[in-house]
Amino acid sequence: MSRVLPVDPHAPDADVVDEAARVLRGGGLVGLPTETVYGLAACALDEDAVARVFAAKGRPTSHPLIAHVLGEDEARRLAAQWPDVAHRLASAFWPGPLTLIVDRAGDVPSAVAGGGDSIAVRAPSHPVARAVIRALGQPIAAPSANRFQGLSPTTADHVVRQLGTFVGLVLDAGPCAAGIESTVVDVRSPRPRVLRPGALDLPTLRTIAPDVELHSDALAGDELRASPGMQAKHYSPRAQLLLASDRAGAERITVELLARGKSVGLLVLGPSSKRTFPRLAVHSLPPDPVAYAHAMFAALHALDEIGVDAIVVEAVPQDDAWLAVADRLRRAACPG
Ligand code: TXA
Ligand code: MG
Repeated sequence: MSRVLPVDPHAPDADVVDEAARVLRGGGLVGLPTETVYGLAACALDEDAVARVFAAKGRPTSHPLIAHVLGEDEARRLAAQWPDVAHRLASAFWPGPLTLIVDRAGDVPSAVAGGGDSIAVRAPSHPVARAVIRALGQPIAAPSANRFQGLSPTTADHVVRQLGTFVGLVLDAGPCAAGIESTVVDVRSPRPRVLRPGALDLPTLRTIAPDVELHSDALAGDELRASPGMQAKHYSPRAQLLLASDRAGAERITVELLARGKSVGLLVLGPSSKRTFPRLAVHSLPPDPVAYAHAMFAALHALDEIGVDAIVVEAVPQDDAWLAVADRLRRAACPG
């Protein structure tokens, strides 16, 4: 099982940071916090270490990883072109929860990019992630630290439970602030495209790139995938997840499942009159997209942990500010 080292999220202890850099330099994997979710880190320029990331996650090697850097200068070194819109977005939102897809520089190993000619780059704002990147002196490849298609980890404990047998060291800096992944924007074409809605919301993104469009993957999970990691089923708990269009629907499905002897987790938006009892666990999540995102994966992990048969979720508002949460819930509910 993993060694878990507590670390101060604001002022990371130098010993812990150095230890993480030592493990990465030796080709090992480290679970570490970012402001979005925990990442499974490897040195991005070490092809063997990158191969270990794919193996640990059980992820197809064609699904590209994000290279985490300190800032725009380091990102540019990984890119063959750095369009003006990349500069504007990076200046406005880095360090922070924005990932940019650009053409890959020839000397960046193709393994990290899933064999493709583009590369995803992001400068995280979490002091622990930044300190480890600085100590290593190289970019860090870090997908979310979960098994392929599994629930994203927002605490060190979530990482250990899914990947404990694969990752030697996990840095525990407490729960992630955002609780949902970065927004992925492809800036290779004149009009930037959101491939994955995320912690940087669309209205905010539009303040800098007013013409940004949503790729259909980011909305519908269709078959035409610009981002190989955006398969329809993703972010899924072990229990079957059922998405109801409103509160009444969620309560009706819950009652039916209970009547069939099932144990149920119910996730509602705002306060609930339903009470937790032996076969029903109710989580009321805040009716605000940022606060909901912060709590969502933790609630789903908690329900999986107690082993409910099904999780019923009340749909969230159809509104741009809720896009990332709605995307994760739709994929988590996908049976395929
Ligand atoms: O917030 C985050 O982005 C977290 C933290 C750890 O930084 N990382 C993360 O990585 O979510 P991952 O690998 O779980 O998701 C990365 C997403 C996937 O949907 C992947 O397909 C997409 O980014 N992606 C990565 N490289 C790409 C590329 N070259 N072209 C298109 N999509 C890419
Ligand atoms: Mg992921």
